[in-house]
Amino acid sequence: MEWINLLEIVVKTPGLHARFLNTLSFMENAGARKISSCEDPQTVSLLQLKHAAEEHRHAYYLKKQIQKIDPLACPTFEAAELLAAVPTQQYLNRLDLKACRLLKKHFGLSGAALKFAAYLFVTYAIEVRADELYPVYQQVLTAQHSRVMVRSIILEEAGHLEEMLTQLRAFSDDWEAIAQAVVAMENDLHTQWFNALVKEVV
Ligand SMILES: [Fe+2]
Ligand SMILES: [Fe+2]
Repeated sequence: MEWINLLEIVVKTPGLHARFLNTLSFMENAGARKISSCEDPQTVSLLQLKHAAEEHRHAYYLKKQIQKIDPLACPTFEAAELLAAVPTQQYLNRLDLKACRLLKKHFGLSGAALKFAAYLFVTYAIEVRADELYPVYQQVLTAQHSRVMVRSIILEEAGHLEEMLTQLRAFSDDWEAIAQAVVAMENDLHTQWFNALVKEVV
C-alpha cells in the first residue's frame, strides 16, 4: 500500500480523518517544540525563529482544520485521539537520539553544539518527508472535495527545506553524507509509523 491509498481511506472516513489531522498536528507541535528547545537564548537567528514560529503555526492550523470535520473531535493529544499513537509519540525522539549518536561520533560535538547540529540534520530529514507527504495529502483532499486544506503548509515546508540546506552547507563541507545517513534513519522510522497506520486504518 502507498500513502495515496491510505489517505484515500482516511479522508473518506470522518473519524479517521479527524484523528489523522490531530496526529499531524501532534508531530508538527513536537517538531516546533524541538526547534525552540535547540535555540540559543542569546544567538538564535532570525531564520530559526521563523522556522519555530511556522512549525507552531502548522500545529495550530492542522488542529483547527479538525473543526471542519467535527467541532468536538480530538480536543487533546491523548493516545485515543491519535492514529498509531505509540510510533507517533516516539518518532521524533527516536530520530533525535539516533542522529545525536551519529553526530557526536562524527563531529565530536557535545552540549549546545550537538543540540544545534541535531536541529540541522533531524529537521532536514523531516522537511524531506514533509515535502513528500503534504502534496499527496492535498491531492487526495482536492480529489474528494474536502473542505480541509494544507496548501499553506506545503509552501512553507518547501521554504524550510531550502533554509535547512543553506544552513547545512554553512555548517560543514561533508554535510551531505551525514544528511543521507540521517535520512536513512528517518526512512526506517517512517516505515514503522506507516505500517502501524495501515494496520490501524485498514
Ligand atoms: Fe511543518
Ligand atoms: Fe517544516
